[in-house]
Formats: sequence, structure tokens, C-alpha cells
Amino acid sequence: MSLIYRRKSNNLSFSHVIYDYIGEIKPFVKRVRKPHLLIPMVLFKSIEWGIYRWYKTPIRRFYGVKGNELIYMITNACNDRCPKCGIWERPEPRDQHLMIGHFINCLKRLHHNLYQVTLTGGEPLLFKKDVMLIAEEAKKLNVPMVIVSNARFVDEEFLTRYKALGHILVISVDSVEIEKWNEFRGKRNFDIVMPKIILAKQILGDQLRIQSVLSKESTDEIPKVIEWCEQQGIQHNTQLYQDFGAYNWHNPIKSETLSYDNETPCAARKNICVYPNGDVVKCFDHRRIPLAEEPLGNIAKQDIIEILCTKRSTEVSKVMKTCNLPCKNMSCNKPQTHLFN
Ligand SMILES: C[S@@+](CC[C@H](N)C(=O)[O-])C[C@H]1O[C@@H](n2cnc3c(N)ncnc32)[C@H](O)[C@@H]1O
Ligand code: SF4
Ligand code: SF4
Repeated sequence: MSLIYRRKSNNLSFSHVIYDYIGEIKPFVKRVRKPHLLIPMVLFKSIEWGIYRWYKTPIRRFYGVKGNELIYMITNACNDRCPKCGIWERPEPRDQHLMIGHFINCLKRLHHNLYQVTLTGGEPLLFKKDVMLIAEEAKKLNVPMVIVSNARFVDEEFLTRYKALGHILVISVDSVEIEKWNEFRGKRNFDIVMPKIILAKQILGDQLRIQSVLSKESTDEIPKVIEWCEQQGIQHNTQLYQDFGAYNWHNPIKSETLSYDNETPCAARKNICVYPNGDVVKCFDHRRIPLAEEPLGNIAKQDIIEILCTKRSTEVSKVMKTCNLPCKNMSCNKPQTHLFN
């Protein structure tokens, strides 16, 4: 069946083109219920097949041009200890950290499909050198980039270089008051990080955004963060609290508010997520889907297009179409147009 592609999918031999066409049309014919519609439907399907044949890479067929977001959790390690987040408790051993070349190759292979590459963690700026290599490569490939950071390692040199590349920096802020800030970060670093955020605004201007996590613990703080952002002219996004394995914060949002339009497929279908060791999954909540529990592959060992074109990847994408779990509300799983204002 043609949904499972070979790497050089648009350099095919004549016999493979015929095989591909039959593989696509045969199951389609079986799905047409009304006999009088068979010929026009096959005609339309053939036109669609003909158009897609010109596309450069196989996964465009699923997601369209520039339809994917590549999200790299560059590390689990972190220099903060936020009680809302359990990621910092499980830093990867040094020898399991992916060599940066593998991720750069992955970016090069996928760039035609990407509307964005996002770096998250743990704290991405613990690997500032690698982050800058990715940022420069993304610029060369014309892929917009977003870094989500706690801003602890932000400095003037980084901001100036990053500004020139035109990418976006999202800084996480759950309170603008010193005592709550220090409690929420698990580190007393308000006096160090706040001036860095002001510097980031001065240098990055509109390329700076702020994101807050809304939970029972932060309910009173988030309106103050939003007001502060308005005063500073910084775009803001609120992300709903999810279980990140920490169990220290609680979700105050009523389940009816959380429920998402069941008709809209989870936007995480567009995501291609890479873990610190190079494992590839379709969404970071993949363990909730039995078929997706195991990673789809590893970019240190396999080509990313090969990984995404396996039968299981295709099947996982199909399952995600009707997946309606609370993680559907995560910012990284929502359409970009719903974020930041
Ligand atoms: C896991 S952090 C990694 C990047 C960076 N260390 C930071 O804090 O910005 C990515 C985003 O997830 C948010 N986050 C952390 N724990 C969360 C949770 N339990 N539920 C929802 N979002 C959470 C953070 O506030 C941040 O905006
Ligand atoms: S939310 Fe970010 S800064 Fe806080 S502990 Fe988790 S990874 Fe670190
Ligand atoms: S609802 Fe959650 S588990 Fe299901 S596809 Fe979306 S992000 Fe993944």
C-alpha cells in the first residue's frame, strides 16, 4: 500500500509508479458504496494521487506543505526545581545524550515539512552551544524556531545572536512576586532572572513571549503576570496544568472547561517529537496510547523519514485523529493560531 513509502519516493521507476497507483486505488474502490459514483470518484482520486506524486517527501502526503512541528526535548536536566514539573527529577545520563549532529540531520531532512522547530526540556539553555547550532541551521533552512526556557542562562551575547536570527524565545513565568516566584521555581532566583527578562525584552522586542501554567496554586498569580506582560508589551499564553509526573500542583479547571471539541482531531498529529536520547514519538503523551507506547524509532540509528513512514507511525497518526485526552489542551498540541495574545 502506498501509504508506506520508500525514501526516494519521487524518483520511482515506472513499475513502482504503477504499483503505487494500484495500491492506492484498490482499497479506495472498496470504500465506494454507491456504484454510480465509482467512475467519478476514481477519477478524482487519480487526480489527487497524480498531484501528490510531485511532492518532495512522503510525509507531505499526510500533513500538507509545512504542516509539521518538530519538537526537541533537548535534555531532561534543569537548573530549577519547579514543584509543578517532574522532568528535572529524571536527568538523562551523560552517555545517553544525543549527539547534536543527529538532530541537525533530522532538521535538514524534514525542513520542507516544518512550519516550526521548538526546543524544550528540561532547560534547553544548559546546552546553549547546541541550541545556537540548531538556531543557525534553522535560519539557513528557513524554519522558524521557538525556545521555551526558564531564562536562568539567558545573557546579552545569546540574546543579541538570537535576535539576529529572527527566532522566538518563550520564557516561563508563573508569578511576578518574589516569594511566589521563588516557591514556584524551587530556587530563590527572582533577583537574578527578572532582570534577564527585562534585558530579553529590550533586545528581542516582539521576539519575546511569556508563558504561564494555570493550576490551583497559580490561580491568583496568573492575572498579575498577564497584567505585567501587558504593561511591558509582551505577548502572553496560559497553559493548563497537566500531569508531568510531579503531582505537587493540582488542576483547578473544571472538567467541562477542559473538554475539547471532540470533532477536532488533536493538533498533536502534526508533531514530531524527539527525546534527549533521540527516540521519536508523535506526542509527548504517547504512553497514553497503547499502540504508541514504544518510541517509533531513534534518530541516532535511523533516518527520520524512514521512521515516520513505517506502518506503525501511520497507524499511530490515525489513532491520534480521534484521541481526546486532557493533553489535547497543551499549548504544544494546539494550533498555533490559538496561542499568545
Ligand atoms: C517543561 S518546561 C521546559 C522548558 C523550560 N525549562 C521552562 O520551564 O520554560 C516547558 C513548559 O512547560 C511548562 N510546564 C511545566 N510543568 C508543567 C505542567 N505540570 N503542566 C503544564 N505545563 C507545565 C513550563 O512552565 C514551560 O512553559
Ligand atoms: S518547568 Fe522548566 S524550569 Fe521548571 S523544573 Fe521543569 S524544566 Fe525546569
Ligand atoms: S490527546 Fe494527548 S495522547 Fe492523544 S494525541 Fe493528543 S496529545 Fe497525544
